[in-house]
Amino acid sequence: MQLVIFFLMIVTYTHADYPALKALLSEKGLRDVSQMLSVQIQSKLKSTEIPEVRGGVDIKIGTVYYVLSNMRVVQCSMPDPSLVFVEGTGVSVEVSQLTLAINGNWATQFGIIHDGGSFDLAVYNIHIYTLLQLADDAGRLSITTVQCSANVGDVNIQFHGGASIFFKPFISAFSGQISEMIREKICPAIQQAIIGLETTLQEIPVNIPVGQYISLSIPLTSSPAVTEQSFELDIKGEFYSRSSPSEPPFSASVFDVPYAENYMLSVAASEFLVNSAAYAFLSSGALQINITDDMIPKISPIHLNTSQFGAFVPQLRTLYPNMEMQVLLYASETPLFSFSSGVIDIHVPAAAKFSAVKPDGTLVPLFRLDVDGSFSGSARIDQNLTGAFQLKNLTLTLGSSEIGDFKVRPDSDDSCQIFTLVDQHYEMFYLCLIIQCTD
Ligand SMILES: *[C@@H]1O[C@H](CO)[C@@H](O)[C@H](O)[C@H]1NC(C)=O
Ligand SMILES: *[C@@H]1O[C@H](CO)[C@@H](O)[C@H](O)[C@H]1NC(C)=O
Ligand SMILES: *[C@@H]1O[C@H](CO)[C@@H](O)[C@H](O)[C@H]1NC(C)=O
Ligand SMILES: *[C@@H]1O[C@H](CO)[C@@H](O)[C@H](O)[C@H]1NC(C)=O
Repeated sequence: MQLVIFFLMIVTYTHADYPALKALLSEKGLRDVSQMLSVQIQSKLKSTEIPEVRGGVDIKIGTVYYVLSNMRVVQCSMPDPSLVFVEGTGVSVEVSQLTLAINGNWATQFGIIHDGGSFDLAVYNIHIYTLLQLADDAGRLSITTVQCSANVGDVNIQFHGGASIFFKPFISAFSGQISEMIREKICPAIQQAIIGLETTLQEIPVNIPVGQYISLSIPLTSSPAVTEQSFELDIKGEFYSRSSPSEPPFSASVFDVPYAENYMLSVAASEFLVNSAAYAFLSSGALQINITDDMIPKISPIHLNTSQFGAFVPQLRTLYPNMEMQVLLYASETPLFSFSSGVIDIHVPAAAKFSAVKPDGTLVPLFRLDVDGSFSGSARIDQNLTGAFQLKNLTLTLGSSEIGDFKVRPDSDDSCQIFTLVDQHYEMFYLCLIIQCTD
């Protein structure tokens, strides 16, 4: 199955009830569904137990009562069913030239005469037409049969064993009965299968936990839109924090999924989906990380200690000489994503609280840097969600300080180090976000 994901630019106005996720099935998609359905119908028919059939045939001198039992479909063949979108309703499914070969046992009773044996039954040219309605039932996709008709072509039956020869003259009456019996059973069986499918659909949860912190809310926001060439589902697509769910201070915008006839299924997500995830992570307290020196690879030229940071915060050398440092890096507001024709921009307002670590492990707060970063890049969804982002702009300001003022952007080469350091951690921080999204 091919899947294409569109990241779209959203303009127009916003509203809380607009979907943030859309799925569109094309005619090509429907053709593939039809192939899958063909395989499924055949395997279902082969594994279905056929109930016993009892009846009687009037042979003028009395009635022959019969029982057909142990019936099973040993062979079936059919071309792929034809599935067609029916505008405003749903999908019609037409099966033609379905042929079945059935084996079973027969037993008859005529007065006191009992007889029995086996039989082979071939049913040709079964034709079934069903119209299925797709709708929205309290946020879930519902499917119902609105029309069903069935026809059975020829029936050919051969009895083996017993005094089967005795029944030869009545086979045509018998065949007629069997044919009618099969015809009558088809639509109720289809309705039963659709009711089963509907039950399954109604059991699908509309809130899916995604990892430890967030869950995705996926009820339909409106009835499925069926046109002559597509079927579209509009889905809420909003993430919530699992521990403290609340609505974000921004809302979803209107957008369209472009019809792509070469793809079976197109899925489009608006910025709102991604931003609601960022907001949910933030509300869950997940967008924060303590960075300690032992998390930095030994070979790194930058280490979290007061000797090294003393290069650009001179008072550290005198106030807290030779101490390790720790940084609490956190998003101070929701990181916001915006999509525009293939490019994703991310704006991340964050802060980094630096502390010195005393030998007994207690922390001495030093200063807070406010970080305002923007990244630009693209994301791809194949098996995993992967992204490549570049830092576009990063501004650092001294938010507060317990150790007096210092220059955040000194002109010496050392400044590169603190920039690189924050940048590195920033990427790490951003990576956390992505990993949790795909969890
Ligand atoms: C970071 O460390 C501080 C002090 O050790 C602790 O109070 C805080 O809960 C930690 N935060 C995270 C997100 O690990
Ligand atoms: C601080 O980091 C620098 C650079 O990695 C290193 O040379 C020095 O030994 C470290 N000092 C302490 C006290 O850990
Ligand atoms: C996707 O992620 C899983 C688990 O992290 C990994 O095993 C797999 O190789 C990844 N697939 C691709 C195509 O990167
Ligand atoms: C970087 O961000 C700052 C503050 O957010 C802004 O004033 C500046 O114009 C930005 N620079 C670029 C190159 O976008």
